[in-house]
Amino acid sequence: MLDAPVAVQDRPGARPLPEPARGEVRFEGVTFGYDPARPVLRNVTLTIPAGQRVALLGESGAGKSTLLGLLTRTHDPQQGRVSLDGADLRDLTLNSLHTHTAVMAQDTFLFHDTVAANVRYARPDATDAEVHAALQAAHALGFVQALPDGLNTVVGERGVRLSGGQRQRLSIARTLLARPTVLLLDEPTSAVDAQSEAQVVAALGALMQGRTALIVTHRLSLARTADRVVVVREGSIVEDGPPDVLRRHGGAYAALERAMGEAVGEELPVA
Ligand SMILES: Nc1ncnc2c1ncn2[C@@H]1O[C@H](COP(=O)(O)OP(=O)(O)OP(=O)(O)O)[C@@H](O)[C@H]1O
Ligand SMILES: [Mg+2]
Repeated sequence: MLDAPVAVQDRPGARPLPEPARGEVRFEGVTFGYDPARPVLRNVTLTIPAGQRVALLGESGAGKSTLLGLLTRTHDPQQGRVSLDGADLRDLTLNSLHTHTAVMAQDTFLFHDTVAANVRYARPDATDAEVHAALQAAHALGFVQALPDGLNTVVGERGVRLSGGQRQRLSIARTLLARPTVLLLDEPTSAVDAQSEAQVVAALGALMQGRTALIVTHRLSLARTADRVVVVREGSIVEDGPPDVLRRHGGAYAALERAMGEAVGEELPVA
C-alpha cells in the first residue's frame, strides 16, 4: 500500500473542514466508473442529514462499496460532486477528510502489538481511561480482561489469536476512540460467528450513536435499525425511505428483507 501511487492528492488551496463538523453528506449527480467509459454509478443524488443512519442495500456488484469509496476519495467522481457539510471533498485536505471519516470493513487489521496499542492507534494521546471506556462501549472489555495479560496482551499476526467477533469489537473500540464524524461500514458483521454477532451488533450501535453512518449490510437486524434504507441497483438508487415504509411499499426492499430473513432464519423484531 505504501508503494502504491497516490491517485488522489490535495488540490492547491485545499482547506480543512470547518469545525465543529456536523456530518451532512451529499452526492449530487455523481457518475463514476473505474473505466470512465463504463460507469458503475450513474447520476447518483443523495442527501444524508447529519446524524442519520443509512443502510445501503443491493445485489452484489450494484455499486455499494464504490459509493463508500467516493466518500473517502479512494476515487473521485467523473461527473457531479460529493460534499461534507457543504464542502466539495476535493476542496478539503486529505488529512482533514480522513480525520472526519472512518471506514470499517469486514477484515479487521490488528498490529502485532498489545490490545491497548491497537486501540490507541486511532488517537495516540488517548488516556488509559479513554481506552478503557472505548473497550467497554465496544463490548470488548470482558474478553480483553480475560486475556493472559489483559490490555497488555500482544495480539495480531503472531500474538494471541482472537475470533472474528473479538477482532471486530477491538476495531470498533479503535474507531470509537477516533471519534469520526462520518462512519462508513462495509459489511461489518460478515467475518463474525453467530455466537458473538449479537455483541458486535450492540457495539456497532454504540459506535453509530450520534454519528452520520452509511452501512452496507446483509443483516436484517442492522438494516431494520437504520433510519433510512437506500437500495442500489446497477449503479442507481431505486428505493429510498424508512424501512417500515419501504416494507409496506412491497418493492425491492421488501423482497431483500424477505431474502435476508430466509437466509438466516431471523425473526422480525425488536426496534
Ligand atoms: N477496483 C475496481 N476496479 C474495477 N472495477 C471494479 C473495482 N471495484 C469494483 N469494480 C466493479 O464495480 C462494480 C460495483 O462494485 P462494488 O464493489 O461497488 O459492488 P458492491 O455493491 O459493493 O458489491 P458486493 O455486495 O459484492 O460487495 C462491479 O461491477 C465491480 O466489478
Ligand atoms: Mg461491496
